[in-house]
Amino acid sequence: MFQEKNDVITAKSFVSNKHFETNITNGSIVKPINFINEFEIVPFPPIDNYNFTFIDLFAGIGGFRLALQNIGGKCLYTSEWNSDAKITYSLNFGEVPFGDITNDLNKSYIPQSFEILCAGFPCQAFSIAGYRKGFADTRGTLFFDIEQIVERHRPKVVFLENVKNLVSHDKGNTFKTIIETLEDKLGYKTFAKVLNTADYANVPQNRERIFIVAFDTAQVQNFKKFQFPQPIRLTKSIHDFLEKEKQDDIFYYKENHPYYTKLEKSIISKDTMYQWRRTYVRENKSNLCPTLTANMGSGGHNVPLIKDNFGIRKLTPKECFALQGYPIDKYIIPNIANSKLYMQAGNSVTTTLVERIANQIIKVL
Ligand SMILES: C[S@@+](CC[C@H](N)C(=O)[O-])C[C@H]1O[C@@H](n2cnc3c(N)ncnc32)[C@H](O)[C@@H]1O
Repeated sequence: MFQEKNDVITAKSFVSNKHFETNITNGSIVKPINFINEFEIVPFPPIDNYNFTFIDLFAGIGGFRLALQNIGGKCLYTSEWNSDAKITYSLNFGEVPFGDITNDLNKSYIPQSFEILCAGFPCQAFSIAGYRKGFADTRGTLFFDIEQIVERHRPKVVFLENVKNLVSHDKGNTFKTIIETLEDKLGYKTFAKVLNTADYANVPQNRERIFIVAFDTAQVQNFKKFQFPQPIRLTKSIHDFLEKEKQDDIFYYKENHPYYTKLEKSIISKDTMYQWRRTYVRENKSNLCPTLTANMGSGGHNVPLIKDNFGIRKLTPKECFALQGYPIDKYIIPNIANSKLYMQAGNSVTTTLVERIANQIIKVL
């Protein structure tokens, strides 16, 4: 079967095994194991000499992991249930994430002690694009799994990311519940700020996200000294993130496309990105890439458009990863459907922005 060596699934068998998902559903893959020896090479292996420890919940493709590992963190546990995201994650970090975090068995493998809990928990329940149901929607209740883990393990820091609308959702009640839970119930002191990738990460993507950093006041005496990073000047343009050569034909609009004439009329400048808005093409005036979203993966309508020397085309998944701060010369983008890759990029954090915030956290610790 798929299991080897007393329940140890090797990363190789994982990525080559189509039936893995079924097994996850059955809950049979649940061994806390470092898979690194099973790989010949992974670009971002766990580090031996570390300064702090963390866990990576709702890990996606490892935006938090990459950032914290870069500044000397060792990841002790990962959870992500999407099988395609697991492929990308394991190819890069050499570890297969545990599945559903609401599952008690998966939770039981979280090590008792670690310093930072990272979670870019799912935003659908809070985002305008989602159902606006907040905690009434089960996806919203995933915050309560975070609460439970914090209560049991008492990390020094809780580091959360979500959509900007979290603040205004349900007239501010959702956000209030989160902050009150962290502060009044769990005894943490919270700092929250909306940061735009374009202003804080020197990456030309218009992406506003809320970051919440909470310190256990009993363990972190210095917590009052925490500050979010300062803005930095944007010196890079979208061209620094675009491939120069001709891309695969599938990304270009063909002349026989029903909307080709409309596209040709609307998409004029090579310095601007555009986006379909139902039946028209919207120019993104600020010379920034519009927010990359998870629904780029469904139908491709929201994938930003550009004009290059060869025609009018969608951004490639690789360009989307680059616009989320991933070092694409090193980071492995697996050979899976483009729709899945777009979703992964849209779902992710801008990893270089997370790294700047994490640096500020480490200063306080
Ligand atoms: C907003 S994305 C976070 C992406 C991540 N921060 C990154 O850098 O790629 C939320 C992720 O949570 C995962 N997820 C949702 N519910 C989950 C659950 N119950 N258990 C484990 N993962 C879950 C989704 O598959 C998705 O990849």
